[in-house]
Formats: sequence, structure tokens, C-alpha cells
Amino acid sequence: MPLRTAEQRYPRRDPDTDHAARVPQAVARIAGIRPPFGRTLRQDGEVRVRDLFFLGLWLGSPLVGLGMTGCGTPVQSAPRPVVAPAIEGTSIQPQSSEPSAALPGPARSATGSNTAEPSPPPRGQSSWPTLVERLPWVNPARCLKHCAMDPGETEALMTVNAKGEDDVRGRLRIRKEIVEPLRALLQAAQAAGHALRIESAYRSYKDQERLFATIKEAGRAARPGHSEHQLGTTVDLRLPTGAAIAWLAEHAAEHGFALSYPSGKQRITGYRPEPWHIRFVGRELAKALVERGLTLEEAFRDTPELGESGSCTDCPSPASQAPCGAISDAGECRGSVLTWCYDGALASVDCATSGETCGAERPGGVAACRTVPRAAAPPDRAASAAP
Ligand code: DAL
Ligand code: ZN
Repeated sequence: MPLRTAEQRYPRRDPDTDHAARVPQAVARIAGIRPPFGRTLRQDGEVRVRDLFFLGLWLGSPLVGLGMTGCGTPVQSAPRPVVAPAIEGTSIQPQSSEPSAALPGPARSATGSNTAEPSPPPRGQSSWPTLVERLPWVNPARCLKHCAMDPGETEALMTVNAKGEDDVRGRLRIRKEIVEPLRALLQAAQAAGHALRIESAYRSYKDQERLFATIKEAGRAARPGHSEHQLGTTVDLRLPTGAAIAWLAEHAAEHGFALSYPSGKQRITGYRPEPWHIRFVGRELAKALVERGLTLEEAFRDTPELGESGSCTDCPSPASQAPCGAISDAGECRGSVLTWCYDGALASVDCATSGETCGAERPGGVAACRTVPRAAAPPDRAASAAP
């Protein structure tokens, strides 16, 4: 399927002025929702076939020696421990809290070049679980509603250790609502023989600002104001084996977590594959995403009423802004690094981190990360990338 931006797929509509675009009624909580969708769209079908293909590749890869390893490390011949990047929080002390998993109130319309407006689909073409509140929608073009400040919701966070246990001296903070589901996930993993540990959790705006300034690898860290880690509902897990990667992909949704950055979706998520990065979205939505083979980002694009963003122009750091300059939507490749204009914001991903190359199907076409033919795959680059 040709890659299309949300803008291309759907006409613009501002939910602030178009009341019909808002969530009609709060009928359930995030984790206790309506029965899932009734319909399959042609567009969804296209996505599903493609995405199941990538999902199959991902899930199958550890079993056939193509497992991803830490930090988007490309292929290697045997399962290895997968750890989130050490820089993703391990050396950063959380400072203060961020908005909850779901943010109340209507979305503000975007005003900055670095903030995309919701791009609604044609009326009635989607059927997702109905949420009480919109979920924060962040991506390379979208910022959190409270980007410019940490709202001081420290009481919403609790401190845990890498096993998710209460630990006032722990370096990790997560929102209280996800403590139980996260513990249940870790316990289920343990029972299945996988010793998963929390590697990184909540980050303040300043944490993310420091992280982003530290990371030079394209597509590895979100700009401050754009990270799901600022929510407190997102964690990076240490995945000790390839089997643990597959287990998490298969079972995360049972506990309400969605994998935000699966393999093969760099052009959609804006980031390299991160099999360790999970966000709590509630069981119904998480299962719905798995059923459809879609990411949360795709659900937002399909049904913008699900999400809520702020204006990136409110963010205090220039690092939160990403003008595209001369880079077009089609993007370009510089070596293995793909750079493109993502809904008006510059995005960049190093395709090599997932064992892929950067290229276009035809000259002048859309540049994307593409699977390297096995014979042409660069040999051992992958093995050295884990921190
Ligand atoms: N690594 C993810 C994209 C983050 O920094 O939030
Ligand atoms: Zn992460």
C-alpha cells in the first residue's frame, strides 16, 4: 500500500470548531469498554495484511535467527538479551510528573508548524472502543497537552524498582493506575519463564530534553514534549531473550499494554522498532489493536477523536520543534538514515538499527526503511549496537 499521510487520507477538520468531531459520549472507562469493532474497512484490510506480514516477521524473527536486540539492534543469529537503551532513563532521575494516561478536555487545535491537527476519517468508518477520555496523542509532529510544564502531578506517580515492586528508593516512577497491570504482566512473564524487568519509565519534560540532547542516533529518542514516557503510563522493559520478545508481543495486550513501535512501522510511528516499549491503553483497546494489527498511532489516524494533543509551540525548548525545511513528505535517504516530513515535522530513523536499508521503490518515490535481501544483508553490524 502506498504510504500516505493522514492529511492525504482525510480532509482537515478541527475538533475545536467541529463539535461532531468530538467524542460523542463517555460510556466506559479505558479498561472497561464496549465490544470491539463491527466492521472491517477496505483501508483497514489493506493495513492489516501488510501489518500482519510485518508482525509475522517480527514474531518469527527470533525463532529463525532474525531477532531484534536491544535498542533496535538489527538482526543476529541467536536470541540475545534485549534491553531498552541505557540512555532511555537509566541515567536520568525523574523529576516531576506529567499528565495522566488519558487527558480530560477537548484537544486544542494546532497552531505551530510542528503540530499536526487531527485528520478525521470519513464519518462512521471506524469503530474503536469508546473511551471516557481522549488518550494523549504524541508522535514526531504532535506534543503533549501540557508540553511546556510538568503539571506537578507527583501524587499520581509511585516509585518502584525494576520488578515493579514498591520501593521508595527505586529510580523508576509510573502512574499508580498502571502498577497493578504492570505487575500482572511481569508476573505472567515470570510464570512463562521470562524475567522481564522495567528499564525505564516516567520521564519529565526536562528528562526527555536531556535524553534527546544526548542521543545522536536517528529515530531513537523522541523530542521533549513528544514522548510517551512523559505520560507515566509507558515503560521500557528489559527483554532477556528472543523468546521474551515474542512473549511480550503476544501477551502485552492481555494486561492492557500496547507495543507502540513495532517492526516495519517506522514511517507510521516515526521511530525505529522498539519491542521493549509498551504503553498502557487498557485491555479492550490493546486487544483491538492486536486484532487489527495496528499501532495506537494508526488508531489515532483512523479515529482522531480517540486522541488529544497540545501545541508544540508551547514547549519551552527549541528541541521540541522540528521544522521540515527542504525535506518533503516523500523524504530522502542518507546512507541508512531515512528523513522525512512527518505531518509537518521533521522525522528521522536509522533503518540500519532494524537491519533494513533506506530506499524508495522507484526514483523520486517515497523513501522508507526496506528489508534488506538476505544475501545483501550487512553481516555483523547489528550485534554491536546494544548498549
Ligand atoms: N524512544 C522513544 C521514542 C522515546 O524517547 O519516547
Ligand atoms: Zn521507551
